[in-house]
Amino acid sequence: MIFKYIKYAKQHIYKGLNFSNFLSIFAAIYTYYILNKMADDILKKIIAHSKEYGFIFQSSELYDGLSAVYDYGQNGTELKNNIKTYWWNAMVRLHENIVGIDSAIFMHPTIWKASGHVDAFNDPLIDNKDSKKRYRADVLIEEHREKLYQKIEKEIEKAQKRFGDAFDEQQFRTTNANVLRNQEKIDTLTARFVKALEDSNLDELRQIIVDAGIVCPISGTANWADVRQFNLMFETKLGATAEGASTIYLRPETAQGIFVNYLNVQKTGRMRIPFGIAQIGKAFRNEIVARQFVFRMREFEQMEMQFFVRPNTEMEWFETWKEARLKWHKALGFGDESYRYHDHEKLAHYANAACDIEFNFPMGFKELEGIHSRTDYDLAQHQEFSGKKIQYFDPELNQSYVPYVVETSIGLDRMFLSVLSKSYQEEKIENETRVVLRIPPALAPVKVAILPLVRKDGLPEIANEIRNTLSLNYNCQYDEKDSIGKRYRRQDAIGTPLCITVDHQTKEDGMVTIRDRDTMKQNRVAISELPQITESKVSMNTLLTQLL
Ligand code: GAP
Repeated sequence: MIFKYIKYAKQHIYKGLNFSNFLSIFAAIYTYYILNKMADDILKKIIAHSKEYGFIFQSSELYDGLSAVYDYGQNGTELKNNIKTYWWNAMVRLHENIVGIDSAIFMHPTIWKASGHVDAFNDPLIDNKDSKKRYRADVLIEEHREKLYQKIEKEIEKAQKRFGDAFDEQQFRTTNANVLRNQEKIDTLTARFVKALEDSNLDELRQIIVDAGIVCPISGTANWADVRQFNLMFETKLGATAEGASTIYLRPETAQGIFVNYLNVQKTGRMRIPFGIAQIGKAFRNEIVARQFVFRMREFEQMEMQFFVRPNTEMEWFETWKEARLKWHKALGFGDESYRYHDHEKLAHYANAACDIEFNFPMGFKELEGIHSRTDYDLAQHQEFSGKKIQYFDPELNQSYVPYVVETSIGLDRMFLSVLSKSYQEEKIENETRVVLRIPPALAPVKVAILPLVRKDGLPEIANEIRNTLSLNYNCQYDEKDSIGKRYRRQDAIGTPLCITVDHQTKEDGMVTIRDRDTMKQNRVAISELPQITESKVSMNTLLTQLL
């Protein structure tokens, strides 16, 4: 890879760059390369650790795997369940006006026509014939346009330095030949791009790529195949015979299961607006470029909440939910700097405002959760396509209307990756490296490990008794194999917050040693105190009270 960058830099020397420019360009490229490599290395370590310690396995590994599909192992499932509980309790238990449902994955196919997914849930694809790599045509164009913007910004930066206080940016933008030329390229490109998207003109999308001289980053050639529209929904057949079977879709979002149950829940729960319906469940997307472990998968889980509000109040609720969701993330203690908002410039067909909460993953800031103001689009569409009235009678206004919706939508697997990547740490202690997962205790897969010092003298019996008591409330693990040091390391590697060691002294005084994962400090405490100590360390309520 690095040789590719050197080659690139060399080419530019011949094109007239002087040596010091060459050095600074090379340094920038090299830094970029190192940062990318570090991110790659961290991700690789997390993937390997996930496999070694029973968090995540490649799906169908026995048959060489299935791309972008993963299975959760014994520890991964516990961690995932704890994330779900944290989300569910924050949404449903702490909000009197939010209830939860669990709708089916199979739904009537017209639902996806009404929601716009059959016609609009597409990505335009383009293949490079030489590298055989596949790209999203719209992303290639957007990235090229971004490069042109960057050229203008650099030109302005240079001029600013040259002219100092006398610099007039507005005048420079309207008179400098380089800026004008690049701005014209951007304007022409944007106009063509927007029109091609509006007209769904795939030939024109390809032509824009060719005209702009966009090349494949792998092969370096512009040998592009035709652009094809690719719907991300998976199809399957419902029915026993080929003739009688109808095409149905695996849901690409859980939200539609909520919309089509709006009336059922509102009526049976006697819900009054504003109120919300929450759901956790599987979603499926035939992603073109699925990569980066569980960040982008073809089968994944979403935790979504649709909040139904009065028309014209949606922007206030949009802001409220943006704040509430960020608070939920920050309560985990990974540091406020790990999150940022990103407002959408290009809105989905159903939205009048949208914002992502981005997280600093090993590969940089990326979308973790979306908050969308979906207007009355979905309910109005279902009203039209089903022919059934979907309205709310507002007793305070004495009027009926189709409610507006603010949605919060987070990928459970992405949330899992965020927790794992921030928790994974390698620490040098004495002559060894300790790998520890500093998972927030409430989310840890195993809360307490109970370890008899030796496998005899009645110690296993005492340890098992402790395990039986604590297991009523917490996921515990009993481990009697290997030295205590090795057992501690095994528990550190899966993020167990507390280890309890039973030794010969325990038989005399009913005391055990309790060791903290993060500080590695050990204390002697009475067995009778263990339930209370454990509760104060690992209780989910510690997280939830921060949200009140
Ligand atoms: N109902 C709205 C909706 O589905 P989205 O932005 O397409 O909106 C919401 O998806 C969240 O679902 C994302 O923020 C992300 O966390 C997660 N998500 C989307 N596609 C995913 C994929 N292919 N793999 C894993 N998570 C995904």
